[in-house]
Amino acid sequence: MAGTGEPQIIAGADGVTPAVLAAMAAMPDRRLHAILSALVRHLHAFAREVRLTEAEWEAGVECLNRIGRTTDDRHNEGVLMSDVLGLSTLVCLLNNGDAGATETAAALLGPFWRDGAPRVANGGSLLRSPTPGPALFVRGRVTGPDGAPIGEARVDVWQSSPVGLYENQDPDQADMNLRGILTTDADGRFAFRSVRPAGYPVPTHGPAGDVLRAQGRHPYRPAHLHVLCAKPGWKTLVSQVFDPHDPYLASDAVFGVTAALIGDFVEHGPGEAPPEPDIAAPWYSLDHTFVMEPGESRLPRPPIA
Ligand code: BEZ
Ligand code: FE
Repeated sequence: MAGTGEPQIIAGADGVTPAVLAAMAAMPDRRLHAILSALVRHLHAFAREVRLTEAEWEAGVECLNRIGRTTDDRHNEGVLMSDVLGLSTLVCLLNNGDAGATETAAALLGPFWRDGAPRVANGGSLLRSPTPGPALFVRGRVTGPDGAPIGEARVDVWQSSPVGLYENQDPDQADMNLRGILTTDADGRFAFRSVRPAGYPVPTHGPAGDVLRAQGRHPYRPAHLHVLCAKPGWKTLVSQVFDPHDPYLASDAVFGVTAALIGDFVEHGPGEAPPEPDIAAPWYSLDHTFVMEPGESRLPRPPIA
């Protein structure tokens, strides 16, 4: 038998899948064995189902190679492809909340989180360079499932600018603009000042863009804030909060919007006193509670440097 040192002579297409599975049967890492054997079974079934031609197989391999070539320290095409195919959200919802139900504060990480953002004091600003646009005041609270506050939690936030660009995509923004790390107080609260994020198109210069175009899909994400909460003893929460007024709310290019993630973005007019004197109307506020689950605290691998 293959995998035990015996030779394997392949007897036609039907013999390939059992031979590959047999060749890996004795893998010492049983979790890796489960993953790889399922991958082989599903890949082979996929090729059979669509009767994959040799030219199509070549195009698929070239697509994988282009994902690699398009990726560097500032751009992660692998994460982006996973996002536009819905895989990132599927993995997120399988691993958070009620095993696939949408009542979880978790959302996909996306390709733009950077580790090492500057610390921001509670009530401080995320702006590190002039960033025109309506002001946004965010007040958050981090709790456990029972509503009890989680103090001393790390709260990492990042967002696009009012023109829909992250600082790493925009030479007009200072390094780490609209990014920051806060710490919750004893009541689980944090607060910061920023500008209202805009929705934006995901990058389309690589294979993920080709997939969107071939599928006839637009590349837009509705406006949102990213929040990552971490504290030992609690499963790291990667979340997003969406602006309910965004026209793309119900057609996010990366399938990230669940009901639990739609935030209470409120517009304030000239009649309402702003929280700080230099603010012109309209300005915006957002109050949001993030619910963490007990579990392992680990930071994700940063998609970009
Ligand atoms: C983001 O929200 O930063 C994002 C997520 C998926 C693809 C592109 C961007
Ligand atoms: Fe984003």
